Amino acid sequence: MSDSTHPSLARRTFVGGGVGLVLAGCAGSAEKWEVKPVAVREEGLVELELKDYPELITPGGMVALRPATLSKPVLVQRLEGDGVRVLSLRCTHLGCTVRWDGEAQELRCPCHGSRFDDRGTPTKGPAKQGLALYDSQLEGSVLRFWVREQ
Ligand code: FES
Repeated sequence: MSDSTHPSLARRTFVGGGVGLVLAGCAGSAEKWEVKPVAVREEGLVELELKDYPELITPGGMVALRPATLSKPVLVQRLEGDGVRVLSLRCTHLGCTVRWDGEAQELRCPCHGSRFDDRGTPTKGPAKQGLALYDSQLEGSVLRFWVREQ
């Protein structure tokens, strides 16, 4: 797993235990999987207002987004306090798009069956590496993260 770094801002990611995550409109059903497009600013910055993403207001919520400069979506998770986690949804096996399974509370790859927990750690192969984690930050009502193609 490779973490990106941003030179001007300290990383703020949740490092405590996992939380029960609920992806609005996406509870284990592939038909309901919704990926919303988002713009990317200079240096890979994506900036969101929480009011535009009500799923992210409450800890445990998550949303799948497709930054314009990436070929695969990311999963943005709201954690306790001001914690956020942004994971690449590019499977580390051969690059398929993994999806959140709300019933199993895990990420699953439809191509060869790899599974990952909510932190992106592989729990079942063939993938051996964790999902890429992007730097992220929540300040008040503004959520920022920085992306780059993996
Ligand atoms: S591409 Fe995901 S398991 Fe093979």
